[in-house]
Amino acid sequence: MNQSLCPIIAVANQKGGVGKTTTAINLAQALALQDLKILLVDLDPQGNTTQGVGVRLESIQASVAELIRDRACPMENAIYRGDGLDLIPATPLLSRVEREMVAMTNSELRLSHRLQSLRSKYSAIVIDTPPTFGPLMNSALNAATRLIVPVDSGYFALMGIKELLVEIEEIQRGTNPNLEVLGYLLTLVDPTNIASQTWDTLVGNFGENVFETKIRRSVKLREAPALGKTIFHHAPDCAGARDYLGLANEVMARLGMGEGVSSGNARPALSLVSGVSHE
Ligand SMILES: Nc1ncnc2c1ncn2[C@@H]1O[C@H](COP(=O)(O)OP(=O)(O)OP(=O)(O)O)[C@@H](O)[C@H]1O
Ligand SMILES: [Mg+2]
Repeated sequence: MNQSLCPIIAVANQKGGVGKTTTAINLAQALALQDLKILLVDLDPQGNTTQGVGVRLESIQASVAELIRDRACPMENAIYRGDGLDLIPATPLLSRVEREMVAMTNSELRLSHRLQSLRSKYSAIVIDTPPTFGPLMNSALNAATRLIVPVDSGYFALMGIKELLVEIEEIQRGTNPNLEVLGYLLTLVDPTNIASQTWDTLVGNFGENVFETKIRRSVKLREAPALGKTIFHHAPDCAGARDYLGLANEVMARLGMGEGVSSGNARPALSLVSGVSHE
């Protein structure tokens, strides 16, 4: 694959708690396990992705907020290095910067411009987005080439998808004509009728654009972020790890990146124990 065309994948749905952060973290790590060099960008002031890969918010000197606000801030200052997985973190400062963005020139294109210079250095860039429409979400939609839309398996799961599609169309008509949905992903799946009805409705609406992989509800996936670990550090043999490897496989196939991986190959390299840190 041409390195200069590294895909930028935003995980987006303005509905809260649908598994955006869990997906961004574990998809990024699953791709990194396939010998791909991955950059994970936290674009949510909650900083859940940042903490979820083990970086403490108090330890951060430069984050995505400084990159958007301050053109003079060197990229390297905000990149935390891991084993195949690097991170640009977010802190609560990002919510202040989001408010300041109304007065900034080209504010919603700044992230996109910043990430362009990194595309030759990574196989893929994965962005976690906040659960609200606004300047940050627009920044992600402008920077992304592809979107993954997680949909939880509950009542009202598809509510809001129409609004998201309207936003996507608006961005496509304006500043980012090449933006495409890579796939809809059913998350938090449990053995209830509601989950299977949501699946049927999703496939009925979006057909092959729905990932075959479903992310099952799992205690290990819920525990991992509190420990600052990806699922592959916390419980590499559990169903959650297999599900995210299955997703990585489909993502790679849809992007034409190599042959993909077997979903049974859930054992990470031992060096993963070190996690992400600043140099
Ligand atoms: N497959 C799963 N099994 C069990 N728990 C999960 C799973 N996916 C996510 N969770 C848990 O559900 C909660 C919401 O998930 P997550 O933070 O990934 O959603 P989100 O869409 O990023 O939320 P927000 O909109 O607040 O950013 C978290 O506590 C997370 O640990
Ligand atoms: Mg989140």
